[in-house]
Amino acid sequence: MIEPSTDTLNTEFGYFDDQQKEYVISTPFTPTPWINYLGNDGFYGLISNTAGGYSFYQDPKFRRLTRYRYNSVPVDTSGRYFYLKCDDEIWSASGRPVANQPEKYQCRHGMGYSRFLVNHQGINSELTCFVPLGEKAEVHRLTLKNAGARHRKISLFSYIEWCLWNAEDDGTNFQRNLSTGEVEVEDGVIYHKTEYRERRDHYAFYSVNQPISGFDTDRDSFLGPYRGVEKPLCVEQGQSTNSHAHGWSPIASHHVEVELAPGEEQTLVFVLGYCEVEKSQKWQSPGVINKTPAQELIKRYADNHSVQQALDNLATHWDKLLSKFQINSPDRKFNRSLNIWNQYQNMVTFNLSRSASFYESGIGRGMGFRDSNQDTIGFAHMVPDKVKERILDLSATQKSDGSAYHQYQPLTKKGNANIGGNFNDDPMWMVLSTVNYIKETGDFSILTEKVGFDGDESGEPDHFEHLKRAFEHVVKNLGPHGLPLIGRADWNDCLNLNCFSEDPNESYQTTQRGKSDIAESLMIAGQFVLYGQDFVQLCLQLGKAELAHYAQKQVDAMRDAVLKHGWDGEWFLRAYNAKGEKIGSHENKEGQIFIESQGFCVMAGIGMQDGKARRALDSVAKRLATPHGIMLNQPAFNEYDKYLGEISSYPPGYKENAGIFCHNNPWIMVAEAMLGRGDKALEYFASISPAYLQDVKSLHKTEPYVYSQMIAGSDAATPGQAKNSWLTGTAAWCYYAASQFILGIKPDYAGLTIVPCIPADWPSFAVSRRFRDAHYSIEVRNPDGLGSGKVQLEIDGKNVQGNLIDYSQFNGEHHVIATIVS
Ligand code: BGC
Ligand code: NOJ
Repeated sequence: MIEPSTDTLNTEFGYFDDQQKEYVISTPFTPTPWINYLGNDGFYGLISNTAGGYSFYQDPKFRRLTRYRYNSVPVDTSGRYFYLKCDDEIWSASGRPVANQPEKYQCRHGMGYSRFLVNHQGINSELTCFVPLGEKAEVHRLTLKNAGARHRKISLFSYIEWCLWNAEDDGTNFQRNLSTGEVEVEDGVIYHKTEYRERRDHYAFYSVNQPISGFDTDRDSFLGPYRGVEKPLCVEQGQSTNSHAHGWSPIASHHVEVELAPGEEQTLVFVLGYCEVEKSQKWQSPGVINKTPAQELIKRYADNHSVQQALDNLATHWDKLLSKFQINSPDRKFNRSLNIWNQYQNMVTFNLSRSASFYESGIGRGMGFRDSNQDTIGFAHMVPDKVKERILDLSATQKSDGSAYHQYQPLTKKGNANIGGNFNDDPMWMVLSTVNYIKETGDFSILTEKVGFDGDESGEPDHFEHLKRAFEHVVKNLGPHGLPLIGRADWNDCLNLNCFSEDPNESYQTTQRGKSDIAESLMIAGQFVLYGQDFVQLCLQLGKAELAHYAQKQVDAMRDAVLKHGWDGEWFLRAYNAKGEKIGSHENKEGQIFIESQGFCVMAGIGMQDGKARRALDSVAKRLATPHGIMLNQPAFNEYDKYLGEISSYPPGYKENAGIFCHNNPWIMVAEAMLGRGDKALEYFASISPAYLQDVKSLHKTEPYVYSQMIAGSDAATPGQAKNSWLTGTAAWCYYAASQFILGIKPDYAGLTIVPCIPADWPSFAVSRRFRDAHYSIEVRNPDGLGSGKVQLEIDGKNVQGNLIDYSQFNGEHHVIATIVS
């Protein structure tokens, strides 16, 4: 059993324990709930530093296991709770929701598990929550120890509240909900079987591996009338009521009496599981559910030994995943970001896109087309097979004209336009994800996989045809200046140039009044040149010379159009609106410069020769950069303008209106690295990367181990304050920028290329990189403080021309020295 540690590195709210790959939180009262994700293959749990949060299987909207109240007061008061009662003292094994504070509290969020250490009145508890690999269940292991000198009797109560599966309905349709809830209790296991009698072939359960002295399945009976989770009546009275829920709000609570002699400890294992049953086997006897799958699952975690085994397996799994890329640079924070937390967050964003977090309610946005494609670039090196599957799922939602549904539900895999359609940047992101995947794996077979359009399973076209249509979709949707039409919006959802809404009841994402054949986007133009070039390269790899030639012509024409109609003098314009007027120009009163087009046009290499690229980035540094990151636009919009849409609806400094919308900051890091300015690239990296922000936590507010979507910009009342942590494209992009462009360890078709662009004062760094079947230990030396430039390669002691580690020659274990020379 672990004791809460004290650490000299402790900042106001906690510290990094890199050895354990944990973030250690020292108070239940962090500025916002600081959460972790459990599970990585279908069954997920969101868990805060006081064990708040919820669990679901596959789809947070359609298969929600436990109930969570967003926006509740106090915040974060639904979760998996353990109440301890001893000698009339009541406290929680995770620091909350009981108001009475334990003498010692610590939460350790690790890779796929969270651990809570609490000492109170001579009783120490350790609660570990995790989802075992491959299991549709959350395990809660609770160890209680009598640390004192006298015999103790503890009354323990577990508590979770069931969600009636469909989370949206659960939170809105009370006229039905209060009548549908059904449970069964058998051998101390509480089964949740709402709607199982009709169309559902699944149920959930909550078990404990000890005899119970009582249970409750009806919320009001357990909590008592008009009481909250902070003070359940049953806990106060030390006795369950054995209530049976018929509708109302079903819960699961076990009551276990634990007696401990001095020094003695006892471990209890709780399992929150999900079971699917064949239609024909649903019932054991009339009205009694088939419990076999649950019993088998419970048996697998019958004792602490098997739980520990599962925990060890999880740790090994993560060590293996993270070992694929490990960096040792002179900057500890940089290492910590890349080696541990950034990669960890990449897994989470890959799994969940923008669906379920403490800010995404799990019922609105499913898997985003643009988001999920981008998320793969932070994850392809970790589990490439999953990336392939995801890309093909996304591809299957594409329409035959090359456009895309903006999102799909993970359960049905069918695209929908619930949050709008017609976002004209969507299609080209699939070129990025596919090319990045092939370069990482060398697996061209993804291109010949058969994928129908729009969920058509009989579909014949191959995935390559989908990429071609994505490319064509841009070519066929050009505006008056030969630039791409923006459609509903591009990457910036909130720049709604065809919306013109004056009605507060309308959605910016679905309303359209303007004709859609005028407003153009320079961000999509840059994106098309960048990924269009990738498409050309891909065609050449496949020997499709004619198509490559055609595509190159389109790309060249777009580059010309950008140079002719997209340059404002010191930076790239952002767009033309529905009236053909410039957006993001010095001629505008507000919103003179935007970050997106600077990032994308420079990443596309536009203006590299004639100095425009450099000037654009210098303008970013001068007008958009702040100590907290780079703002999206300046000056902020102070008034609502219906020709701009949602962007002008946000108060200045927040979100897309001049906030630091972190997702686009790495575009500038990449662009700076392409210009050879490694110091600048790292400066931008450090300004938004969580590992560097620990010390300003009370300002920053969100978790110090993951990126947040937004940090307030300088026009805000609270510059530097972050919001909306975890599910953001920032994670994949920052990892991509840092690994492929700053460190310059860049996969290509033929192998790994080394193109570092590091701060001048880094003497060297080392990377251990698994690439396809090979393993390279790479040492990059910077003897003359150049930071970037030409590289001299030595592989296994022999000089090699160029900067490519050719996979066809070097596919085993190799030692690489790359020296930056002038
Ligand atoms: C948010 C965007 C989001 C969009 C669609 C807007 O309110 O600011 O970040 O992508 O809604 O859900
Ligand atoms: C969040 C959305 O998930 C993403 O798709 C979009 O690009 C950004 N907001 C910017 O508006």
